Amino acid sequence: MNIIDLYEKYDNLYYVGGVVRDILIKMPSQDVDITVEGNAIEFCKNLEECEIVQTNPDFGTVRIKLNNQVYDIASTRKEAYPKKGHLPVVTEIGCSLKDDVIRRDFTINALAKNTKTGEIIDYVNGKDDIQNKKLRVLHDESFIDDPTRIIRGLKFATRFGFELDEHTKLLQDKYLKNINYDMCYKRMKDELISMFNLNSNKAFETFINDKIYKLITEKEIKLPDYDISGLIGKYYKKIKNVWLIYVALVDTEKLDLNKIESKIVDDYQKLLNINLDSDYNIVKAFETCETESLILYEINKKDNKAIKYLDKLNEIKPEINGNDLKQIGLPPSEKYAKIFDYILQEKLKNPDLTKVEELELAEKFEKNKENM
Ligand code: CTP
Repeated sequence: MNIIDLYEKYDNLYYVGGVVRDILIKMPSQDVDITVEGNAIEFCKNLEECEIVQTNPDFGTVRIKLNNQVYDIASTRKEAYPKKGHLPVVTEIGCSLKDDVIRRDFTINALAKNTKTGEIIDYVNGKDDIQNKKLRVLHDESFIDDPTRIIRGLKFATRFGFELDEHTKLLQDKYLKNINYDMCYKRMKDELISMFNLNSNKAFETFINDKIYKLITEKEIKLPDYDISGLIGKYYKKIKNVWLIYVALVDTEKLDLNKIESKIVDDYQKLLNINLDSDYNIVKAFETCETESLILYEINKKDNKAIKYLDKLNEIKPEINGNDLKQIGLPPSEKYAKIFDYILQEKLKNPDLTKVEELELAEKFEKNKENM
């Protein structure tokens, strides 16, 4: 049996969530969520030719292998938020499909599609909202339960060109005036990553102007006057953490940054206070930094120094290496670093220096002991 046989044989299997929305919007989907109306673990136990790889009874989810392919299947479930802003708890597994979809974030994400009949099940007018490009929460407590939904809303608005419906915008504004900072910032970080990786100036404008940024800081932040997405776009291949550029312009204190993310932010802060009055100082300051820190520096200072470094200075490097120095009779020592630094300074003044000229300069530098 393969998954298509399964879809055709049973009438209690549904595609749910983002995938149904994406089918209707005609957008490619990032992942396909399959749900059984009922208990998925029990359902899969009774299937022929189905190997159960893993089960999570607390969530009612099961991983199966069919025809050598792995699939995750969920049970319909109800959830509650006993601790607002934190992970929900499952209160019922195997509930009705309707109860499963109405626990979700926006109507556009609360659609289901029967895998056998292809029928779209729409309890919440999600199809109309897709048609009208509206993001509507399913109940008034939605943002209080889970404030990451505010970031999700901005993500979907950015990705699909949708906007919040009027009542949902009012609920969002109300929550943002009274944020409960005791929330799960791990989830918040995940949503910020996924939203800001879209690299949109418009999303950042909304993030600041609509005060969504208040979710991650209690400080007052102004929108920088800069085409941030354009600058990121120019150096896209060198940037792994697009999202962090936007978030570091606001505040990262509440987020649990990993080692490289922390380095990016720390280096950015340090760069703001370093004297960068020569090309040599620029190279020395920037060469150990990630591109993200340089972009942040540029947005903050607007002095074109990071651009000059990225476009030109970082390609200017001495051609000679340790072996070359050995060959002109200089035994390896700490002096090498000083010599390379000196050659770099000269090369930045005159990028056309040849390798032979570099070696001559190295010899001269070595002879002139006052410099050492
Ligand atoms: N969901 C929710 N509240 C959240 C996160 C998710 O109600 N805070 C629900 C939505 O119904 C969503 C589904 O869980 O469609 C799956 O979540 P996820 O994979 O994060 O969302 P997608 O809608 O698939 O978004 P993306 O396309 O960005 O993956």
